[in-house]
Amino acid sequence: MAIHNKSHHNHALMSLNKMRKDNTLKNKTTADFDPPEKPVICLNIMDCCDFLKEIPDNSIQLICIDPPYNLELAGWDIYDNYIEWASQWLNEAYRVLSESGSIVIFGGIQFRGVKSGDLIDIIQYVRHNTKFKLINTITWYYKNGMSAHRYFANRHEEVIWLAKSNNYYFDLDAVRVPYTEEQLQLALKDKRLNPENTRKGKNPTNVWEISRLNGNSKERVGHPTQKPVEIIDRFVKALSYPGSVVLDFFAGSGTVGRVCISEGRHCLMCDSDPATTEYFNKHLELMKELGQDTEYISTQTVDDFFSADEIEGVI
Ligand SMILES: C[S@@+](CC[C@H](N)C(=O)[O-])C[C@H]1O[C@@H](n2cnc3c(N)ncnc32)[C@H](O)[C@@H]1O
Repeated sequence: MAIHNKSHHNHALMSLNKMRKDNTLKNKTTADFDPPEKPVICLNIMDCCDFLKEIPDNSIQLICIDPPYNLELAGWDIYDNYIEWASQWLNEAYRVLSESGSIVIFGGIQFRGVKSGDLIDIIQYVRHNTKFKLINTITWYYKNGMSAHRYFANRHEEVIWLAKSNNYYFDLDAVRVPYTEEQLQLALKDKRLNPENTRKGKNPTNVWEISRLNGNSKERVGHPTQKPVEIIDRFVKALSYPGSVVLDFFAGSGTVGRVCISEGRHCLMCDSDPATTEYFNKHLELMKELGQDTEYISTQTVDDFFSADEIEGVI
């Protein structure tokens, strides 16, 4: 349920801001932050390039996007010169990210013709035209997918993680994968591993096995390319901290907003398709069915978002 509430100034956020200015976020983890009482969420139906223009410099901790690639999968896959269009939002993404901020971009490698784009085009552009640093390429591996007879059936997608600077925030502890008891006992005997970290769990590595959403998945809200909560959750936990601002300017169904409500991050979203509002409401209904807290503060505009007391101190 959306709540409009201008509460008291959030001192935790203000001290966070000071830490960020002191450039000390690099070595922090989730445990160093208090989650906001309620996250602030803003969902706008508009073009991403117009939306980005409204966002202040250095105000965003994490951008998590799953862009269109001109694959003619839907009405929104329509750009004449893909990389010329993408370069506009890539440059804006760099501007709005904070010093400790990151962007993750979902995609694949698909060469379908001159008009289509893919992650290779994006990597080529950012490498030669921006100061982004490529930190990881994550292979998202899934066992469920379409069958094929004229080529090997596809079972992976890629996600690139780019940071604005080397002072990027990364909380590995928040996303470690627990060992089984047997694995743990073996790992504790391995002299190369730090036992304290071993007890916290293993590094998930850059190959993640997470099922895709099947057509009949309970998580489905109707968007054709909806991403699983589990994969978004890992990025949000590792690359943003409680009370920071996450941005998705190709929101689709609003999976990123859903995860932000669960994880105590503020979230700015936009999509050119008005159906996003319905999809997002469906996400909220599903969360309620699962007994999850869906309370958040809703703002209509980017200005209102950054004026909310809960956001004070973030920029
Ligand atoms: C691949 S989908 C995102 C799906 C999303 N990750 C999810 O989990 O539901 C890409 C979205 O980008 C939106 N889109 C395409 N061009 C856009 C533009 N110029 N501005 C804003 N949104 C756009 C489409 O409407 C579509 O919903």
